[in-house]
Amino acid sequence: MQNLSYKVDGQRIFIDCATSSFELTVLTPEIIHVFQNHGCTQNSYAIEGNKVQETDFEITENRDHMELKTSALIVNIFADGKIDVYDRDKNPLILDYRHARQPLDRQMSEDQKRLAEQEGHDVSGNLLNSPTYFEVVKKLADNEVFYGLGDKTGFLNKRHYAYDNWNTDNPAPQVENFTRLYKSVPFLLGLKNQHPYGIFFDNTYKSHIDLGKESNNYYFYSAANGNLDYYIIGGASLKKVVENYTYLTGKTPLPQKWTLGYQQSRWGYSVSQEKVLQIAEKLREYDLPCDVIHLDIDYMDGYRVFTWRTDTYEDPREFVSKLKNMGFKVVTIIDPGVKKDDQYGIYQEGLAKGYFVQNPDGTIYVNRVWPGDAVYPDFGRKQVRKWWADNCRYLVDIGVSGIWDDMNEPASFNGDIPEDIVFSDEENKSTHAKMHNVYGHNMAKATYEGLKRYSHKRPFVITRAAYAGTQKYSTIWTGDNHSLWVHLQMMIAQLCNLGLSGFSFAGTDIGGFGSDTTPELLTRWIEGALFSPLFRNHSALGTRSQEPWSFGEPTLSIYRKYLKLRYRFIDYLYDQFYQENKTGLPIMRPLVLNYENDPQVYNLNDEYLVGDSILVAPVIQQGKTKRMVYLPAGKWIDFWDKTEYEGQTTILVDAPIDKLPIFIKKNTILPWSKEVDHISTEPQKEITFKLYGDHTSYQHYQDNGTDFSYENGKYNLYDLNVGSESIDINLLHHDYPLYQRIKVELPDKTVEFKLAHDKYVLA
Ligand code: GLC
Repeated sequence: MQNLSYKVDGQRIFIDCATSSFELTVLTPEIIHVFQNHGCTQNSYAIEGNKVQETDFEITENRDHMELKTSALIVNIFADGKIDVYDRDKNPLILDYRHARQPLDRQMSEDQKRLAEQEGHDVSGNLLNSPTYFEVVKKLADNEVFYGLGDKTGFLNKRHYAYDNWNTDNPAPQVENFTRLYKSVPFLLGLKNQHPYGIFFDNTYKSHIDLGKESNNYYFYSAANGNLDYYIIGGASLKKVVENYTYLTGKTPLPQKWTLGYQQSRWGYSVSQEKVLQIAEKLREYDLPCDVIHLDIDYMDGYRVFTWRTDTYEDPREFVSKLKNMGFKVVTIIDPGVKKDDQYGIYQEGLAKGYFVQNPDGTIYVNRVWPGDAVYPDFGRKQVRKWWADNCRYLVDIGVSGIWDDMNEPASFNGDIPEDIVFSDEENKSTHAKMHNVYGHNMAKATYEGLKRYSHKRPFVITRAAYAGTQKYSTIWTGDNHSLWVHLQMMIAQLCNLGLSGFSFAGTDIGGFGSDTTPELLTRWIEGALFSPLFRNHSALGTRSQEPWSFGEPTLSIYRKYLKLRYRFIDYLYDQFYQENKTGLPIMRPLVLNYENDPQVYNLNDEYLVGDSILVAPVIQQGKTKRMVYLPAGKWIDFWDKTEYEGQTTILVDAPIDKLPIFIKKNTILPWSKEVDHISTEPQKEITFKLYGDHTSYQHYQDNGTDFSYENGKYNLYDLNVGSESIDINLLHHDYPLYQRIKVELPDKTVEFKLAHDKYVLA
């Protein structure tokens, strides 16, 4: 091996080659960290704790390269610093590209470029321009496909597109040429010749990823600054790669059960208690199951965070408890921008303690958001997060059940925040350039800590901005979509890719946020989003009403039918979250996650799975009442008429306006929850399971759905085995009030069991 030497220290391998030095760390047989210090502090906001597991590996020296081998991966390292990764069977996964990049020919001179830019055309190609710029260029195979990357716009498969990681609040309709949105999750999931792998680029600076847009020969990741810091992630299947990624960055925790219910929101009605109560009354009057009412910015006193207006609310505590008695939880929005107001306690305290971000000259940096001139808490610092968490007590004491963190990219109405504004990176002074993409992450973490500390419940935080790993602290929604059919279509790809990127608890604004919805769009949206983990209708100030009753009949009845259906699936969804909490695998997922060897599903943008057993094929085009549905391998049963289909085929299904095509994988048993108007926290006395097919086994989870006592064993785990001859219900674990009765609905009869001395016997 010429011009290549190495030193091994435990599971770290320091490599010196002709052109550079870098290090590889073997974390597990399937995860290898690649790191090159570019002079920046090495800390990760995404990954917490030590992820290195004792792992065997071998290094062998060859003529022109060294080979690092674990039980799952082979990494070849060459004297020019290039590295190639193969799976254990020598299938190529991630190979460095050996030639120079060929930037796109945009066919214009510098003068022409200026001209085009004058009219607002984006002809930059989004190349990052900085002295600290670096890039990583990898070889692309003809049939390589890409997923993940968080909330990016467009289609499921990201091949041929390029995106930026720079959290951005841009309320214009976000269509497929948008390169950046609110979140930065630089986790790429690939299938190269059907072999799965992942790469996680852990760098918070502005970065760019081009997945074969510039060339069919390579894809590349580039960053404006930061260390070269990425993880090679292997695994025998895409599922295993996602499990590995969420091993690194964390799993979405088990949520409170009521958070899976329907949620009603609209910017504007929290202007007075009277208006909110009217909404609550209508929901009950129209028999619309609902668990949560969201209060947008108008409930605050002059948009001052951690205040409540007193002119239109008599007593917030009483108001919240009145809603509670009607079966509604209240979630309030908070924004990071603290109003610059000498008379306002939060501002005074933050100022006195030096908690706001500063200009390079040490003065406080001011920009403008909802409250007018505002300052930004320096969430990178632990003390500031603690202060924010302490302030959450104000809302918890009023009785608020969840907190919605908004505008935390952070948004700024008075121009972009300059990159040199001083933000802290934990206790070190850093820059906006470095901390921008983790601002929302740190705010969500602080909010989570506050809710946990004061409510002792599983925190329900919803954040708009996020970074890789934010899933540990918060649910997310996709921000300001519009009431457009293309946005209903985008929902599927976006939520599926978010799910593959660790964000299992996500949702869109149902009906669309900006612009005016139509009865048909609203109907198709509530159908299409039926299994969206976060299930909230929200709309912007000034748009036409889109509460379920706004369009009269038949919209109201269809909407009600689907809300009721959603509540039937609450226990299934909760079981999915119980599993997710262990595996990190998303609830709502693209077919490719389960059927990665079937190229038919690589570009399937209009269907999704819920766990392994439910396939959903919503109508997402205006005017359509039929659609093609691709059913993957296996047998599938039409949820509505029970017709059985053989998979790996495309069928044409009727889908009039009140029908959401749903298929259940044959030999599935589904918990079938009771019809309720909201989710109770009382222990359930009975449950029903419905069998599709003729035999199966299933594990069902039950706990109090609210706090952390399940971590101390206060839960039940039921094991159901249903065959043609017999049904067995066993308890794998029990330390919570058990169901008194369990009904199993077979295709031709219902069998009932009762509890007798901790055993289920025929009733
Ligand atoms: C932002 C949020 C939106 C909210 C509005 C007012 O646009 O994304 O959901 O309604 O601010 O707070």
